[in-house]
Amino acid sequence: MLSVKCLNVFYGDAQALWDVSFEVPEKKLVTIIGSNGAGKSTLLKAISNLLVSRSGEIQIQGHVTTGLAAHHVAELGVAHVPEGRQLFPLMTVMENLRIGSVLPEAKAKREETLREVFDLFPVLGERQSQMANTLSGGEQQMLAIGRGLMLRPKLLLLDEPSLGLAPMLVSQIFEVIKEINSRGITVLLVEQNVQRSLEMADEGFVLENGRITMSGSGQELLVNEHIKTAYLGL
Ligand SMILES: Nc1ncnc2c1ncn2[C@@H]1O[C@H](COP(=O)(O)OP(=O)(O)OP(=O)(O)O)[C@@H](O)[C@H]1O
Ligand SMILES: [Mg+2]
Repeated sequence: MLSVKCLNVFYGDAQALWDVSFEVPEKKLVTIIGSNGAGKSTLLKAISNLLVSRSGEIQIQGHVTTGLAAHHVAELGVAHVPEGRQLFPLMTVMENLRIGSVLPEAKAKREETLREVFDLFPVLGERQSQMANTLSGGEQQMLAIGRGLMLRPKLLLLDEPSLGLAPMLVSQIFEVIKEINSRGITVLLVEQNVQRSLEMADEGFVLENGRITMSGSGQELLVNEHIKTAYLGL
């Protein structure tokens, strides 16, 4: 589904990603874990071409995306749910969702996708005409994910969906991510909630100071001594 090879990304003169290479197989749930400033958001932005990479190659289902505009990457079926949700605050829940489905293919199936999103997140169905900025934090995160799903993505990029949520909501969000993946959508999940994301992931990659330093199955990484001390506080 996704192949990243030797990716180097800079902000001006400052290098944020160093020779990052990894793959995400179709229909899998893959997680990138790393602490603050490791480069997780930078990596997702580079994949959706919100950032231009200095060198390296990204392929989405065999299509090289280097140089494509971000909306053309979206057309390949990549939905990016950004860190901090980035909703349109003065638009309603329904308007935010509809914005997620402006591309022709998604637009044609808008009503069907809306039903699927309301099935996953019933609270969004109940609050269709409420302004996004009046939703609770958890509801806003659900709306951000819902807006991403409105694209009918093949690959869903999730940047710290559990950040700032109460423990019960964190569990709910992780359950929904699992459900989305089981419906056949490939998921690349960036998280600081290392325990939860590794438990759920088919595969994990550790990003440290802009470099991938470790990889393995979720279960392998969970019992790794370095992961335990550096990320799980054990
Ligand atoms: N717009 C920018 N201009 C300059 N440097 C930036 C910019 N955005 C990020 N950086 C730097 O790039 C590095 C990686 O940042 P990034 O946001 O990708 O980290 P992150 O792993 O997502 O962190 P967090 O967990 O805090 O969200 C950091 O050193 C950061 O300061
Ligand atoms: Mg980030």
